[in-house]
Amino acid sequence: VEILKTIEEAKSYINELKKQGSTIGLVPTMGYFHDGHLELMRCSIKKGHETIVSLFVNPAQFGPTEDFDNYPTDLQRDLGLAKRIGVKAIFMPTIKEIYPEGYTTYVEVEGLSKILCGENRPIHFRGVATIVLKLFNIIQPHEAFFGQKDGQQVIIIKKMIQDLNLDIFLEVVPTAREEDGLAMSSRNAYLSLTERQAAPILYQTLKLLEDMILKGERKTSILIDAGKENIIKEPLANLQYIDIRSADDLSGMEELKGKFIIAIAVKIGNTRLIDNIVLKI
Ligand code: PAF
Repeated sequence: VEILKTIEEAKSYINELKKQGSTIGLVPTMGYFHDGHLELMRCSIKKGHETIVSLFVNPAQFGPTEDFDNYPTDLQRDLGLAKRIGVKAIFMPTIKEIYPEGYTTYVEVEGLSKILCGENRPIHFRGVATIVLKLFNIIQPHEAFFGQKDGQQVIIIKKMIQDLNLDIFLEVVPTAREEDGLAMSSRNAYLSLTERQAAPILYQTLKLLEDMILKGERKTSILIDAGKENIIKEPLANLQYIDIRSADDLSGMEELKGKFIIAIAVKIGNTRLIDNIVLKI
């Protein structure tokens, strides 16, 4: 697997691939791969793309009290996994390469960035949109692969692609889960043993609401209250939000209709976990 460290290296490498007639699939990551990341890479490779993985812990998407300094890394393991799967190249720039001194340009997808996770993480999605647009411009992929676990991120990036007329297809890959339902996340590594045992409460709550919906419940306020009650039963879990919104544009709804996302964020100890499911009626 080729390691690309500078933007110039990445651009000329991709140009060569394109000259040879290849299509490019981009998997943006912050490293510390789990099966969710690997699934994104497999998906891109299966579609016939030369697959480029970006590995960059993006400081712009972390708030001042968040885990940027402790974000887990294991570069050797990541490189081995990417190579085994058949990734063509890893783009792993330094912070200075991406945000040189004097850097001042940021992308804000208004509205969508301030609700749900944006309420607790006010600058997060501005940082995400900015780095993703920069990666799109540097790698110029035909297709980019993101996990459904970050459901709000996916909706925001889709909106950015639409608003800024980008010629990039976005493929959303289902959430990879542990056997007990916990959504795979690099942040799961922060959980102590007892916290890890409490963590499936997110998925259990989503499944509880899905069950109520299957049985006919349609009022979002009743569903949200039931979700809150269920979370409270887990003493280690601190609910940040549970909400039900349109899966297309995150608009709110009193009664379920069309395609909707049930999204949840919980703090367990110091670790913030998110999960969601998308359903249609
Ligand atoms: O989902 C992530 O890991 C990050 O938000 C992303 C898309 C790589 C941007 O830094």
